[in-house]
Amino acid sequence: MRQHLRGYTSAMTAPIERKPIRKAVFPVAGLGTRFLPATKAIPKEMLPIIDRPLIQYAVDEAREAGIEQLIFVTGRGKTSIVEHFDTAYELEATMTGRGKALDVLEPTRIQPGNLVTVRQQVPLGLGHAIWCARAIVGDEPFAIFLPDELMIGAPGCMKQMVEAYNEVGGNLISVLEVPHEEVSSYGVIKPGAHVAHGLTEVLGLVEKPKLADAPSNLIISGRYILQPEVMRTLENQGKGAGGEIQLTDAMARMIGEQPFHAVTFAGRRYDCGSKLGFVEATLELALGRADMADDVRALVRRLADEIG
Ligand code: UTP
Repeated sequence: MRQHLRGYTSAMTAPIERKPIRKAVFPVAGLGTRFLPATKAIPKEMLPIIDRPLIQYAVDEAREAGIEQLIFVTGRGKTSIVEHFDTAYELEATMTGRGKALDVLEPTRIQPGNLVTVRQQVPLGLGHAIWCARAIVGDEPFAIFLPDELMIGAPGCMKQMVEAYNEVGGNLISVLEVPHEEVSSYGVIKPGAHVAHGLTEVLGLVEKPKLADAPSNLIISGRYILQPEVMRTLENQGKGAGGEIQLTDAMARMIGEQPFHAVTFAGRRYDCGSKLGFVEATLELALGRADMADDVRALVRRLADEIG
């Protein structure tokens, strides 16, 4: 893939060393207010799409991309996320005693020592949540996953990004094309040189622009590969849109200083932080599952007939 990129370096900035992406930060300290009251006692990231919580899909995607260390930025009421990836002795003993296979629990097993949690005491924004992980991230480039954005692709979104990173290095964000009239709800990139199929240089980032000011219809989706210098940028950053410390603002300040590219994700993205996106993901993933597709299709047809 992208063989013709060998030897390519960004025209804007000097190349920087390409350390492998071994660590991923999962900010899960948000309040999930759009899903209240469901998220009053249950973290948004534990809401299931069929039989897996959202956080499991993100962790599966991370592992597929070769990530070794998982860093969860948690807050009050989020302990079930960590428990999900722990060993449940009583459950396993009971299942074994009843002759049930334990392979359904396999995705929840983490190599001892590879899950780290840090606390964001007050939800001051996504940028602040990422900054809370600075001591664990250390001096390495790292991935970020927003688990409420469900990305389904083959290969997965982060694997596509790591492949691009291995070619161009620096910082990368995943983007998607949306209809122009929808851009004001998202972070939008100002695209620069087209580097290769699905890979574009980024000249600027704007959070929730007015339609007339939007530099493109390419929106930032919830996957990032960033260099550790972003932590220093976040350290000195004040509040941005919505009174929150925004990751987009920190990234925007790094453009021009380090290589910055956007990978157009080849796959499907579901905004599971919104109710409609959550329902869409549930239906589409169920329709894509061999063990359910026929029954769900029949169900959807029956409902469509009844509703008219
Ligand atoms: P969102 O704004 O989508 O999540 O943040 P939210 O605040 O939980 O949800 P609503 O809007 O109130 O319904 C995107 C991601 O950033 C995390 C969230 O957990 C989510 O994964 N986040 C956000 C934090 O970890 N800390 C914050 O202060 C804000």
